[in-house]
Amino acid sequence: MCGIFGYAGPRPALPVLMDGLRRLEYRGYDSAGVAVWDGETLAVRKSQGRLDALARAVADGPLPGHTGIGHTRWATHGAPSGPNAHPQTDASGRFALVHNGIIDNAAQLRAELEREGVAFRSQTDTEAVVQLMAKLWRGDLVACMLETVRRLQGSYALVAMSAFAPGEICCIRRDSPLVVGLGEGERFVASDIPALLPVTRRVTVLRDGEPALLTAEGCRFFDADGRPVERGAEQIAWQRQSAEKGPYPHFMRKEISEQPSALRAALSAYTKDGALRGEALGLSPREARRIRRVVLVGCGSACHAAMAGRHGLERLCRLPVAVEIASEMRHRDLPLDERDLCVCISQSGETADTLAALRLARGRCRTLGVVNAVGSTLAREADSVLYTHAGPEIAVATTKGYTTQVLVLTLLALGLAGMRAGEADAQERAALLAGMARLPAQMEALTEGGEAVRRMAHACAGRTSLFYMGRGVDYAQALEASLKMKEIAYLHSEAYAAGELKHGTIALVEPGTQVIALATQPALLAKMAANIHEVRSRGARVLALAARSLSEGLRGEADEIWTIPDTEPLLTPLLGIVPMQLLAYETALARGCDVDKPRNLAKSVTVE
Ligand code: AGP
Repeated sequence: MCGIFGYAGPRPALPVLMDGLRRLEYRGYDSAGVAVWDGETLAVRKSQGRLDALARAVADGPLPGHTGIGHTRWATHGAPSGPNAHPQTDASGRFALVHNGIIDNAAQLRAELEREGVAFRSQTDTEAVVQLMAKLWRGDLVACMLETVRRLQGSYALVAMSAFAPGEICCIRRDSPLVVGLGEGERFVASDIPALLPVTRRVTVLRDGEPALLTAEGCRFFDADGRPVERGAEQIAWQRQSAEKGPYPHFMRKEISEQPSALRAALSAYTKDGALRGEALGLSPREARRIRRVVLVGCGSACHAAMAGRHGLERLCRLPVAVEIASEMRHRDLPLDERDLCVCISQSGETADTLAALRLARGRCRTLGVVNAVGSTLAREADSVLYTHAGPEIAVATTKGYTTQVLVLTLLALGLAGMRAGEADAQERAALLAGMARLPAQMEALTEGGEAVRRMAHACAGRTSLFYMGRGVDYAQALEASLKMKEIAYLHSEAYAAGELKHGTIALVEPGTQVIALATQPALLAKMAANIHEVRSRGARVLALAARSLSEGLRGEADEIWTIPDTEPLLTPLLGIVPMQLLAYETALARGCDVDKPRNLAKSVTVE
């Protein structure tokens, strides 16, 4: 996923741009570049490879000037190369543009421009946009940008400069995040809020189709027709350090350790003195009582959070729950009506498939976002939003984003049950709330990891495949544990509903197969012990993750047993996943993988 950073103010632009791009490196990239207005020309420097290569390129030819834009490119159209790096410029070099997203009709635009004699120098979709800007220029940068985007199909965050509009930076977005930072006498634009935190905490998230114009003197906002509008700024509470690694070797390791405080933040948002703040859930008792079905939608780990969270909604609210993979839901004609509650779950709030599912549901049923990123598209477009309060999550592999999603979904179940008189007795709800209050302290010890994890990680590192299995909420945990191992250790693994093994997959089990069995549910312990026995009798090595009080029941059944503190059965996914996150993290290190920026992946998949 590309990164964008722009600056207009009294300081020399180049060092500000380079610092901003370094804070966006976590998004993954293969080339980078900057454009700076030096008072006479629009000077562009770009290079393939890491930011160090760009730093060398700019060192050879300094770029004075106080207005500029920068970009880290994650290649989609056109291989990683110097010419394909951004900023892309028009033939005259008087327009420079950086872009995050995909222009679906770039080929048609390119053919039209080539027929008019425009010579292209890159294979990027972005060059078609900047060449089109040059064609549509009539003297005003905002008008030119609006006229240009009217010709575009697809997703984009665009930031442009022109030698014909000295000192101006024009920004616009559609389905790809872009945030304006309002500093003291200086303005910024970036792809996400964490990149702005060291320079300002006053931000305005741009709305789809509405441009902003940054200059050293100020920032002006416009509607989609180019009329000036007022847009407020949000004060981001996240502290600057929260978007930096600090003493940790990786963002992922830091964010695993931050989970107890993230849970505390979420609990403080939705509970007070141990009691649920029902009004904080954004649903009226009347709405709560009218719900006849809950549809939980997400991608990747967000979908796994849905798989875990469904159990609370079914058990406490006595409601049918459908869990939908967003990319699948949007291609099915899922019947939805006013008695449905569609909950869209997303850490970034910018995932294209989840946004598409939300837009499918909006207007047909009540929609609710469970989101971490403040002011994100999903947070703004859902009928209401429950923020997860995880704080900025930089590592591509989500950890605190996932656990806070599971917590908020369980709080939602508690709130709905409380408003739907008679569902789930008050005693059960009180026990669950008390269990939640204990979670952060219980999790603290788990986040320390330890020698057993490192030893198992080294054993896993030499393998070509792993099996995870569980039942009920432990099946949801198995799915998330497996995804962590795949996405950062590049180690194939499968997560199975333990009861399903005998219906085919157990044929794959042979002497030495590594199986990780999750057994945190008292009611399912005997079944899980039988499943462990099944695979061990075929030669598998089994690591069992059990609730402490259940571990005795597995003694002699598993080759190794890890335990988590006892808690309410519905809450075990919040504890059990921590050792699984650490196992994936340590295995990735043992396999020499880039933990924070795993290959082929982006932190937020804003393209379909
Ligand atoms: C999780 O570790 C992955 N990075 C990925 O599956 C992620 O959960 C998914 O892309 C959804 O992202 P979102 O929560 O920002 O919508």
